[in-house]
Amino acid sequence: TSATTGQPCVALAHPNGGSVEVQLHGATVTSFKTSSGNDVLFLSEKAVFNGAKAIRGGIPLVFPQFGQPDKAMPSHGVARTATWSLSEEEGEPAVEGHVKANFVLGHSEETLAKWPHSFSLRYEVDLGADVLSVTLHVTNPGEEAFDFQALLHTYLTVPEIEGAKVNGFQNVQYIDQLENNESFKDERPQADFTREVDRIYAGEIGDVGVVGGTTVTNSCEKTAPGAAEVCVPVDVVLWNPWIAKAKSLGDFGDEEYHKMVCIEPGIVSKSHSIAPGETFSLKQVITA
Ligand code: BG6
Repeated sequence: TSATTGQPCVALAHPNGGSVEVQLHGATVTSFKTSSGNDVLFLSEKAVFNGAKAIRGGIPLVFPQFGQPDKAMPSHGVARTATWSLSEEEGEPAVEGHVKANFVLGHSEETLAKWPHSFSLRYEVDLGADVLSVTLHVTNPGEEAFDFQALLHTYLTVPEIEGAKVNGFQNVQYIDQLENNESFKDERPQADFTREVDRIYAGEIGDVGVVGGTTVTNSCEKTAPGAAEVCVPVDVVLWNPWIAKAKSLGDFGDEEYHKMVCIEPGIVSKSHSIAPGETFSLKQVITA
């Protein structure tokens, strides 16, 4: 049981003093502490840990929809509020000097009632020396293809959002979710924050980093039985709710927007079709 959430969790400890905590609720990573004890991930003081609501902070998992294009399903899908299981299967072996845990979630009566497709998710959480890698594997175990979106909704801690700068988006097209989903190109060498930001940067994006802080490396691969791996371009959502939106969120403190930024890799600017037997693996490496 987590001392923070009072809910079932899995804790990983690295020999260098770093640690990670993963809630079975949503397989949400709620803490990633470096060897110096600083938490790289933001977790709201108002987050609700009732085993039902999505956790406000850490790394909620968004699947199979981003936002709520399908009104029959909850916003951001069914994975972030489902109870996951710790997997007995090892999966890929941990890199030497790393500690690792795997989590699994499949369709259930509850998910089928909201979204009528069978799926199999595996989530690998791998802690190295001040580096956390998380990989969400989406497999279609069924007999028909389905469309989906997936995203790692990472909340990073920043010392102060006013003055914070984020690298990695120069000359990248983005969809502005605050401007009727119109597309623009970001020409700035660094993104900064002076008001609410809610953008889907779409296409070829390299590493994204908070200047003087955390770097996030993103990738996605599609594998099919008997076929070569294919790279899938990863979109990155950049989000800070700023003043009014912060006030409107019941599980987020009015002033907490100062202390966080979401850098969220995903495949969300369009839906992806996944054929029977195929797997999409969406990976994020967070370097403190
Ligand atoms: C971001 C979206 O990924 O998630 C925002 O781009 C949204 O539009 C935010 O407000 C938080 O979503 P939720 O459902 O966790 O409040």
